[in-house]
Amino acid sequence: MDLRPVLFLDSGIGGLPYCGRFARRNPGERVIYVADRANFPYGGKDRDALGRILSALARDLDNLFRPKLAVLACNTASVTALALLRERFPGIRWVGTVPAVKPAASASLKRHIGILGTARTIADPYTEGLLRRCAPGCKLTGIAAPDLVDFVERGGDRAGIDEQRGRAAPYIAGFRRAGADAVVLGCTHFVFLRDAFESLSGEGSPEEAVRIFDSVEGVAGRAESLLEKHGIRAAPGGGAALPGERPRNLLVLTGDGEPGELWRQRAADAGLSLGRLGEF
Ligand code: DGL
Repeated sequence: MDLRPVLFLDSGIGGLPYCGRFARRNPGERVIYVADRANFPYGGKDRDALGRILSALARDLDNLFRPKLAVLACNTASVTALALLRERFPGIRWVGTVPAVKPAASASLKRHIGILGTARTIADPYTEGLLRRCAPGCKLTGIAAPDLVDFVERGGDRAGIDEQRGRAAPYIAGFRRAGADAVVLGCTHFVFLRDAFESLSGEGSPEEAVRIFDSVEGVAGRAESLLEKHGIRAAPGGGAALPGERPRNLLVLTGDGEPGELWRQRAADAGLSLGRLGEF
């Protein structure tokens, strides 16, 4: 029995669906979701800057919370800094989040997949390598959408479906024009727009149909299987460690600013206690 927490880390709100999926299936595990608001957005930063930011943050989080496992619930952080974090913090088991290229490649009839991500993820050599390993022979169209990251972070996660569709539509049109028929949401923020993307994906003629993929299930499942494999679950089968006990799960924001109403609502909806990193 290992009662240390499981961390989820993103530049902002993007990783919350990953944390939610894991927490629902593992109610006995204590989860701590960290939104690195102080350094948002990650997508326009280079590898060196992200390596520095994430190493410093991981050090603080390790000292404060002593996690047994950490999920980098962020594609940008994972493609640039996962290897570095594994090397620097070997006491933590790390799970990365990278674009779900494999299932998209299997589903693509045109052998042409799209990745919607941040500028860093699209340009990073890791993504090129991922394509060669997991989707050999497939053509790739990568599109960066920093405005969409910003939209979600500022409250687009709670916007109505019409507004979300309006934001997503130009991107789906771009992938269609390029000839891709399987599109990967390669930035965790875009998972909040999944319904909007899905509803747009079937429009047009059958030849223009596009399928949408994300990594939520795969990443949450990977975290769960690592706990099992290493015998570090809080309780057998993922249930409560003690009868009736519920762990205190947190949503932690970096930076000095007041959390504000939006984050209070997000934390309440996710069943997490909200706080700033400096308060712990
Ligand atoms: N959510 C992040 C990702 O998956 C990045 C968003 C940002 O630019 O900070 O890539």
